[in-house]
Amino acid sequence: MTSVNFTRAAEIAAMAATIGRLLTQVMPRRDQVARLARMNKPLMNDPELVRFLQWCLPKLGLRWAGFRKVRGTVRKRLTRRIRDLKLPNLAAYRDRLETDRSEWRRLEDMCRIPISRFYRDKAVYDFLAGEVLPACAQAAQSRKGKVLRVLSAGCASGEEPYTIALIWTLRLAKAFPGVALEITAIDVDDTMLSRAKSGCYAAGSLKHLPSDLRENGFEPIDGLYCLREAFRRSVNLEKADIRQGLPDGPFDLILCRNTAFTYFDDAAQKAVFSDLEARLRFAGYLVIGGHESLPGQALGFERLTVGLPVYRKTGKAGKLSARGRHR
Ligand SMILES: C[S@@+](CC[C@H](N)C(=O)[O-])C[C@H]1O[C@@H](n2cnc3c(N)ncnc32)[C@H](O)[C@@H]1O
Repeated sequence: MTSVNFTRAAEIAAMAATIGRLLTQVMPRRDQVARLARMNKPLMNDPELVRFLQWCLPKLGLRWAGFRKVRGTVRKRLTRRIRDLKLPNLAAYRDRLETDRSEWRRLEDMCRIPISRFYRDKAVYDFLAGEVLPACAQAAQSRKGKVLRVLSAGCASGEEPYTIALIWTLRLAKAFPGVALEITAIDVDDTMLSRAKSGCYAAGSLKHLPSDLRENGFEPIDGLYCLREAFRRSVNLEKADIRQGLPDGPFDLILCRNTAFTYFDDAAQKAVFSDLEARLRFAGYLVIGGHESLPGQALGFERLTVGLPVYRKTGKAGKLSARGRHR
């Protein structure tokens, strides 16, 4: 080999060594690869999740049927929790629950579904704006104090009570001088309540709001839409578990939508329904979710119109038929 070739070979060898060093720096080590694989490996398959939920939900007073469609949300939270606890799988988490009572509280938190939107279920809000709120306001006008009281039970991040406040303030208040709206909005979840207190939302939350309410109700701040002060004043946000009791009534209108009558078991639904009825004024209105029904025979309530989950307290047993009187 000539000296020129020798120099060239040495250069190539040095280059190869440098590339090798660089590669070991950028390529993950075998233990890192194994750790990444463990992290990405699903901790549970769907049948395991379903079995787990069918086992634990009844112990929390909740029902599997309500969670069928939203179990993906619970799965994500469970996976995060199992990883935080450094447990290998769902079976180990179940063992943990068997021995650690305090973990049930964490599990219950993971089983709360936070989905909500402004003007969720257009037909319901149109009916509330056109019929129910004016009827409540008329009744309030003839009472001493002239206060129209609304309860939003399971209010999430405030979308539901604030929708009522927007409708009232922007569309109805002028027609009922002297009537004051007072909304009590409760939720058991601190995160939901602090979001409700901040009153700022991503554009997607507002997409079903009619344009007059959207344009006059919010101001853009840092890429979010923040509810103007005028629409917050009538809403009192409180932390409360609706299974432990409700704020004092009487209320003219109660909204309990997509919470008790979807996720709670039969006994809890009946207990909540009885509390709601007790807090509702005679001839007051109860609104539930579009896919929900009232437990038992729901005696003493009449459904106001076919297809809408809006009921009026009649106080008389056996009236639950849809009469179409408001059509
Ligand atoms: C699916 S959201 C429904 C929000 C709103 N009512 C709607 O229909 O758009 C259910 C809310 O109920 C709350 N919740 C669940 N269990 C509750 C309880 N026992 N007491 C009070 N709030 C509860 C959850 O934290 C969540 O914010």
